[in-house]
Amino acid sequence: MEVLRIAGQQRLEGETSLGGAKNAVLPIMAACLLIDGEIILHNVPALTDVLGMRRILELFHCSVSTDSDTLVISTKGICPGELPDELMKSMRASNLIWGPCLGRFGKSDIPLPGGCPIGVRPMDIHIKGMKALGAMVEEHHGHIISDGRHMRGTEIYLDFPSVGATENLVMAAVKTPGVTVFRNVAKEPEVVDLCCFLKEAGAKINGIGTDTLRVEGVKSLHSLEYTVIPDRIVAGTILLAAAMTRGDVTITNVIPEHLEALLAKMAEAGITVEREHSSLRVHHVGAIGPVDLKTLPYPGFPTDIQPQFMTVLSVAQGTSVICESIFENRYQHCDELRRMGADIKVDGRTAIIQGSDHLDGAMVDATDLRGGAALLMAGMAAHGETLLGNICHIDRGYCHIEKLFCHLGADIRRVLV
Ligand code: UD1
Repeated sequence: MEVLRIAGQQRLEGETSLGGAKNAVLPIMAACLLIDGEIILHNVPALTDVLGMRRILELFHCSVSTDSDTLVISTKGICPGELPDELMKSMRASNLIWGPCLGRFGKSDIPLPGGCPIGVRPMDIHIKGMKALGAMVEEHHGHIISDGRHMRGTEIYLDFPSVGATENLVMAAVKTPGVTVFRNVAKEPEVVDLCCFLKEAGAKINGIGTDTLRVEGVKSLHSLEYTVIPDRIVAGTILLAAAMTRGDVTITNVIPEHLEALLAKMAEAGITVEREHSSLRVHHVGAIGPVDLKTLPYPGFPTDIQPQFMTVLSVAQGTSVICESIFENRYQHCDELRRMGADIKVDGRTAIIQGSDHLDGAMVDATDLRGGAALLMAGMAAHGETLLGNICHIDRGYCHIEKLFCHLGADIRRVLV
């Protein structure tokens, strides 16, 4: 079993450039099914989830090749494929293949993505939207079977601005005859990036970045070359780790506007971040103040940075309160943080964090992707050594996380135990 051996009390210093966003590249890769020809994607991170989505495309007989962080996908030999339950269950984002399958083949049989450590994550908003578009949808033995041959443009209101449902439904609509108007859609930068990608491929989408999208169906989408946006969640993790270790780190190739909520909360905690057009520098020396925050859909505070911020607050001077409003089970890392000396009480969706003067290294396990990153940060700031297990969760969303932080002065080794 691989674990990360983290030496504590390491100050982060230096400069690092961000790679592409996992949550943008996965729907964009799925959307390639809708395109006729060749797609060249730049800034693609080397993540296990990206490999999983590549396997899915290959099951549809697309050819995929990589050269450094560029992915070349050709849909020349595309035909319907069978998706193994195991592969689909291994990554939640596999459900993003549903919309493209309906748009491309008019029919689909998708194994349900299964449970998830951070919450139940139902598909009801996706299903309701597909039905409103005119698809026949049935659930059988853990599969969603659908027939979209009679889909037509319509008006759809999403009960909640779900990221995945917005992406799936837009992908289903871009080649559906007529006009579809979606209201109360997600506005996350990754949703915007998918829409921009589709638009460059010839889709007709208006209202990108607002809560109403108007999609006019087109007959076909064409080849394109596209660069994926940088990963704001990785950026947030690095900024917070740098602040926690009283470091001095500059991140380049970042879009600061994607991080407004985090930067506001960091400022409230007394952490100053200098910003330029495409770089952010955190240089923190003083104490960290307590902060109350609530996770919300974009542009609210991102749920994907909540665990990392909690780690920082666990050494703040005072009491902080976090309300997790997006995922009902996103406090699993708290038990592990407590093993490192953090004082955290959880009651439902609320966590109360009493800042302590330091954390201690311990043997802990990553419970999920972002919770794992939060524990790694705790290990870098703690006194003594931390052994972090279950790191397959972290590899889903961070490309060689130990190399990323070692480049900034951390002492982290991936070892077999
Ligand atoms: C995406 C991100 C994930 C991020 C999340 C919220 C990807 C690959 N993953 O996940 O990293 O944490 O957005 O920003 O982009 N819900 C329903 N019914 C549905 C769909 C969602 O009840 O049909 C609920 C979910 O259970 C959850 C909330 O809505 O409580 C948000 O989910 P959603 O926005 O869909 O997140 P994902 O697309 O799964």
